[in-house]
Amino acid sequence: VTAGSVSFERIADQYDATRGGLARGERCVAEFVTYLSPLAAPQPVVLEVGVGTGAIALPLHNAGFDVVGIDLSPAMLLRAQERIGSRVAAADAHVLPFPDGSVDAVVTVWVLHVVADPARVVAEIARVVRPGGRFVVLCADAVYNEDAGDDLAPIAHDLDVAVGRFKDAPTLVRRWADAARLRVVSETVTEAVVFAQSPNDVVAVIESRTGSAYWDLTDTQWQELVQPCIDRFRALPEPARRRDRAFANPMLVLERPL
Ligand SMILES: C[S@@+](CC[C@H](N)C(=O)[O-])C[C@H]1O[C@@H](n2cnc3c(N)ncnc32)[C@H](O)[C@@H]1O
Repeated sequence: VTAGSVSFERIADQYDATRGGLARGERCVAEFVTYLSPLAAPQPVVLEVGVGTGAIALPLHNAGFDVVGIDLSPAMLLRAQERIGSRVAAADAHVLPFPDGSVDAVVTVWVLHVVADPARVVAEIARVVRPGGRFVVLCADAVYNEDAGDDLAPIAHDLDVAVGRFKDAPTLVRRWADAARLRVVSETVTEAVVFAQSPNDVVAVIESRTGSAYWDLTDTQWQELVQPCIDRFRALPEPARRRDRAFANPMLVLERPL
């Protein structure tokens, strides 16, 4: 395994409950399924790299695709197996156990920010996807709707920057795609998920440290990077009042030229 990737082994029990579960997967698949429809095979093979608990894989399977998934974490894979059966395997995204050009499409949802070498992973994906096949990337990099009067958004943005959430920003994905000779078919942003959250709610989520960006921070890093943002959240007016918030992710559809 390539050192430096973040396995989700330690969060498998809480993963679905803290990331929207199957409902999020269904919304997410609805965003990109049309980009996979032009693939010619009757039941195209879609490889999900970083399949996790199968929250994306199951809706994709239900949409008629032949879904296979790989992940570093056995505990996450066990849950994916409960959802899509024995179509999952423990493997590293940097060294995919698939022959050249053997799958019709690849999907990564919230994955390129946690792999050790995303440029290499994109090149590896470009190898296994067939000519004319597609690669859908859903970035973890978050887009908040600041215009809607969400006074938490600027602080959330600064926190994301501080803890490195922009590791898979679209400009970087484009650069990796270019180096791997993948063509950009589309770059959009997913439909916003609207929810109500107070500054106190946000602080509670951060302090639960369920987000992977917080797992390996030392106390000193926490004090330098995270605590100032927690203090800013707490200093907002009416910290217990829930605000309407909107959250979305950038999405790129790439294609291996014929
Ligand atoms: C944020 S989760 C996303 C899971 C799933 N795609 C979803 O949207 O629910 C990231 C997943 O990538 C996996 N992962 C991290 N580095 C990896 C690597 N080098 N190879 C394969 N999987 C990896 C983690 O174990 C984790 O399950």
